[in-house]
Amino acid sequence: MSDSAKLLFNGHEYDLPVIAGTEGETAIDIRKLRAQSQVITLDPGYGNTGSCRSAITFIDGEKGILRYRGYPIEQLAENSDFTEVSYLLIYGHLPNQTELKQFRYDLSHHTLVHEDMRHMFDGYPSSAHPMAILSSMITTLSAFYEDTAENMDLNIIRLLAKVKTIAAFAYKRLKGQPYVYPRNDLSYVGDLLQMLFSFPTERYEVSEVLERALNLVLILHADHEQNCSASTVRMVGSSAANVFASIGAGVCALWGPLHGGANQEVIEMLEQIRDSGENYQAWVNRAKDRDSGFRLMGFGHRVYRNFDPRARILKRAADEVLQELGINDPLLDIAKHLEEVALKDEYFIERQLYPNVDFYSGIIYRAMGLPTNMYTVMFALGRMPGWIAHWREQRHDPDTRINRPRQIYTGAGNRNFLPWYERTQG
Ligand code: SDX
Repeated sequence: MSDSAKLLFNGHEYDLPVIAGTEGETAIDIRKLRAQSQVITLDPGYGNTGSCRSAITFIDGEKGILRYRGYPIEQLAENSDFTEVSYLLIYGHLPNQTELKQFRYDLSHHTLVHEDMRHMFDGYPSSAHPMAILSSMITTLSAFYEDTAENMDLNIIRLLAKVKTIAAFAYKRLKGQPYVYPRNDLSYVGDLLQMLFSFPTERYEVSEVLERALNLVLILHADHEQNCSASTVRMVGSSAANVFASIGAGVCALWGPLHGGANQEVIEMLEQIRDSGENYQAWVNRAKDRDSGFRLMGFGHRVYRNFDPRARILKRAADEVLQELGINDPLLDIAKHLEEVALKDEYFIERQLYPNVDFYSGIIYRAMGLPTNMYTVMFALGRMPGWIAHWREQRHDPDTRINRPRQIYTGAGNRNFLPWYERTQG
């Protein structure tokens, strides 16, 4: 592969360096293009633009490959747990026994939020979307913990430890139920479950099935390289904003229905299909008609032009969880039939649209008994270590500059101000 690319423009020739990643992905480095040629590149949605070099996650969209720090997602899903994967993503290696024990100890001993903060939850209406509470409360952590170089790793622990308390408190606030405090004697996921489903009057006995399933779901959501929300965390972090503010912004990006908000949309779509009594082909046809305003939520992906490996694992896990819990959820059958019809349809085949991570995850959250507006909160809990890893990697990267894209201006040319009494038209 050549180590440079030539650009011919306006009678000039520009040599641009070419760089390659560990897996052979290739990029033309254009950082000096404008200085040499007065020309910029334009790539709405950044579909062909690399924003950084990163050693955290590798995705091959054509082959449906996903690896965290080099480890295939299938192996981590099978053999690891969420705290171990979090350590791997953030610090770059699988922890040894001492490191893992200390990490788990730290995570279980920083779970409380300041009591001044607990009262803030009461200020939200019970109709609030929990993603609004999650984002603002994560940012509010910066009011209690100073962002200094010495505090960086402690603040990372604080964030990862407290975010499940914040999520559980948000859920209890919306249900109008008393807050349940964290417990140090349970695993990360077990403690999350008990905070969600316990009452001061009755302690929730952690279900092994749900603890195993939730560990798996959180691992599968833990990172996904430069997706919309991780890029948002990097964008905000590039101004040297603290970890809480950067990740609070990432939560807002994830909330959108085209991104993490899709898992809520999928279940609401499956309920709509169930209640309509219409056949699946009618809904697939609606998804193909751009004017219908209907999309098959949970389908399609900017990067995967093959199966999203996470969707395969989640589909199997959804089956297993429902079977082990003895739940017969018609939505799972609808999802499977919808997938079957869509994957045979030329429109989806031609556009390489497959189920993504959001298509089956909601089935598991439903089996846990969570309302649909908590699904994206669960996605955010899973993505927390990935966002932290990106923020930390960028903080340590000497190449980092404040992110400041250019634009192509299409507005009015130069014109002089006219006082209102001289203006004849708008
Ligand atoms: C996540 O980036 C990540 O890694 C994200 C994520 C992560 O882990 O962080 O994987 C998590 O966000 C998964 C995606 C969740 N969103 C959805 O499920 C929403 C439904 N999907 C789509 O809106 C769409 O597929 C996107 C947003 C996921 C991707 O959008 P793109 O890459 O901009 O693709 P596009 O909208 O340009 O679509 C290309 C074509 C279009 O048709 P034509 O213009 O060629 O005629 O495919 C069509 C689209 O209309 N299309 C769909 C479709 N998705 C794309 N048509 C019907 N249903 C769909 N779901």
